[in-house]
Amino acid sequence: MSHRPIYLDNHATTPVDERVLAAMLPYFTEHFGNPSSINHVYGWETEAAVKKSREILAQAINTTPEEIVFTSGATEANNLAIKGVAEAYFQKGQHIITVATEHNAVLDPCKYLQTLGFEITILPVQKDGLIDLNLLEKAFRSDTILVSIMAANNEIGVLQPLAKIGEMCRERGVIFHSDAAQAIGKIPLDVQAMQIDLMSFTAHKVYGPKGIGALYVRRRNPRVQLAPQQHGGGHERGMRSGTLYTPQIVGFAKAVEIALQAQATENQYLTQLRQRLWELLSQLEGMYLNGHPTQRLAGNLNISIEGVDGAALLLGLQPVMAVSSGSACSSATTAPSHVLTALGHTEKLAYASLRFGIGRFNTAEEIEQVAQHTISTIQSLRKQKTLV
Ligand SMILES: Cc1ncc(COP(=O)(O)O)c(C=O)c1O
Repeated sequence: MSHRPIYLDNHATTPVDERVLAAMLPYFTEHFGNPSSINHVYGWETEAAVKKSREILAQAINTTPEEIVFTSGATEANNLAIKGVAEAYFQKGQHIITVATEHNAVLDPCKYLQTLGFEITILPVQKDGLIDLNLLEKAFRSDTILVSIMAANNEIGVLQPLAKIGEMCRERGVIFHSDAAQAIGKIPLDVQAMQIDLMSFTAHKVYGPKGIGALYVRRRNPRVQLAPQQHGGGHERGMRSGTLYTPQIVGFAKAVEIALQAQATENQYLTQLRQRLWELLSQLEGMYLNGHPTQRLAGNLNISIEGVDGAALLLGLQPVMAVSSGSACSSATTAPSHVLTALGHTEKLAYASLRFGIGRFNTAEEIEQVAQHTISTIQSLRKQKTLV
């Protein structure tokens, strides 16, 4: 395994923490019952495990367990939130506000709703990736039913001002949804203080398993109605039918529990590594930091590099490190990152960008190695270019 490239793509996904795996394992073989089986101990024991996990997750965002709806991940949670609100409130209004730098799991459900006649306002972002609250204020209409703005950006790590957005939505009686796929466990999230009505989560960005996530759905002040997007046995208060996946749910809760306990120290550690990496890389000319310098995820460094071809750069880096040139979730497409073009970058510069996603298991030595190799690759590409 030692010859494999250094993993620095922790926004795409993270390895499962050993402690998380240990918590999950008994629920594959020994405690395999269906949590909905109410007639025997096999069901009772998994039902108890799901209940405990729900409590942990609810506590993590300061809400009640009944307001956590398990899903297969953040894509499904976003779809349920956005399409579920649209379908439940279309008689009240058909206008939705979102932002240009959202993940496709938000933008695409919005585009789909457009085909059904909904109107979508896509707010631009400022040069640092933050939204302009004055533009948000102006975008509200009497028929606005939903605002969907992410907590932490998956490419540039920027943290949007959730509490301010929540306050503006609440004042106007508009539902506020936030995609917190990259934020859970990494920054404090409080759905009461931030006045959030719907919030999407996923486990695999925080050292939990893939294929599990949740949607927080506010039950009081105000009670949010959602039209289910998946029909069946009526699980999750009718909002998301399907047998609950106990091992994944247990792993999700364990991952969040560990992340919350470690949050302050881990953020300090990741910030140090990120700052060191940038300190080394920014010694070269023509290097740009993407996203707000401090209002960002601790482990995120996103840079654009002048004078190199993006594809050649990645090729040169690949033997030593696993990094991403854009969102891994949309890496099937070769279009430049919509997040970087929203910052005002040209297509060429957007292509010549790197996302370093530093995580729990990275070391200071790895960061030195990565910086060295990145610098020498850029230098040799620039040299080749001047020789041509
Ligand atoms: C911000 C954001 N939203 C949604 C998703 C999709 O999450 P999932 O893989 O759980 O469907 C991701 C991850 O890829 C993400 O980074």
